[in-house]
Parts: sequence; C-alpha cells; structure tokens
Amino acid sequence: MEAGVQKGRFITFEGIDGAGKSSQIAAVVSMLVARGLVVEQSREPGGTRLGESLRELLLHESMHLETEAMLMFAARREHLAARIEPALVRGEWVVCDRFSDATYAYQVGGRGLAAEKFSVLENWVHPGFQPDLTLLFDLPPEIAASRVASTGADPDRFEREQRDFFVRVREAYLQRACDAAGRICVIDANRPPAQIREEIERLIVERFFT
Ligand code: TYD
Repeated sequence: MEAGVQKGRFITFEGIDGAGKSSQIAAVVSMLVARGLVVEQSREPGGTRLGESLRELLLHESMHLETEAMLMFAARREHLAARIEPALVRGEWVVCDRFSDATYAYQVGGRGLAAEKFSVLENWVHPGFQPDLTLLFDLPPEIAASRVASTGADPDRFEREQRDFFVRVREAYLQRACDAAGRICVIDANRPPAQIREEIERLIVERFFT
C-alpha cells in the first residue's frame, strides 16, 4: 500500500496456539466500536472466501514446508487486496488474528523455512507495509498446550505438533519482537484475562488516542 494512502489502523494479534487471543480480540473490537470507529475483524489464514478455502487445506492437508509458506502468503495477498487495504483506505480499523509474523514464527521458526525465502515472500506480498501495532501473546508452550487440550476440539495439523515445535515458534516470535520493538508489544499471557485486557486497553489508548 502506498505511503500516505492508509487512513485507518491495522492491529494484529499473535502467539502460539492456546495463548488466549480470541476473547481479547473480541474485547478490543468492542472497545474500538465504542469509540465510534468502524472495525473490520478478520483472521489468517482466511479472511476471504479463497483464503478460507486455503485455510482448510493448510490446517488439514500435509504438504512441503515451502508449499505451506507460499499458500499462507497467497491467502494473505488475497486478504490484503480484497479486505485489508480497501478497509484502511476507507478509514476503517482492521483487527486481525495473525499476519506475517505468524509465518515467520511457524514456518521459519517452527518448520525451518529459510529466513531469506520468507523475506522474499513478505517483500513481494506487502513491501513496506506492516501492522501499526502487533500484540504478541507470550506464554510457556506447556501451559498453552494444556489450554488447547482442555477445549476438547479435534486438534488441527499445527495443534498436533510437539512441545519442541512450539518452543521454536515462541523463540522466533520473541526474536521478531526484538527486531520490531516499536511495533510488536509482548503481552504476558500467563495471567488472568481481566488483567491482560486492562493492559491491552491501556496500550491502545496510549498508542492511538493520546
Ligand atoms: P488460528 O486461527 O490462531 O488457530 P485456531 O483457530 O485453532 O485458534 O491459526 C491457525 C493456525 O495456522 C495456527 O496454528 C498457526 C498457523 N499459521 C501458520 O503456521 N502460519 C501463518 O502464517 C498463519 C497466519 C497461521
């Protein structure tokens, strides 16, 4: 997206599976709507019809790790073109469950995709464009895994990965947060939801409304 064209704000949520993003995303959307903003809530992989079809494949079909990375970015390209960019140009806010930081964490960190290949895809799909704010929910993989197990839902291809995988995903997320410290805020997700919600609200108010 061209610099200066964007009027709305783009907020993303990240973290390993079971970090507890979902209820906090709903809270942030309500908070922004209460301030009179128009908010698009979305998720990746997904967010468009094509993206949701790709999500089905990504979550359930086994594939080569580079295929996985390219399909994540294919879904993202569509999502940007069809929903994210038009919404931001209209001055709306977009709140999205995961974006390219997830590809860095899961495909580079978790699966071992070459970081240069990730950068090629990222620079192709959204050169010079990043979220205005990313909230990274951080917690130990064993606690996240027990939360995923307690939902009783059938685990998908990623949720079935072992602890080592999530240790690497978590490390890659934290590395990315160091590299983009102004954009990515690390949230200690191993706390009661009300405390996390308070911290996030404060962060958003400080960043965008003061
Ligand atoms: P998510 O929607 O958070 O899972 P759930 O609906 O089970 O809470 O994300 C789906 C999975 O996709 C998650 O395990 C992380 C993975 N993922 C990647 O590996 N790379 C990516 O680029 C994205 C966006 C997601």
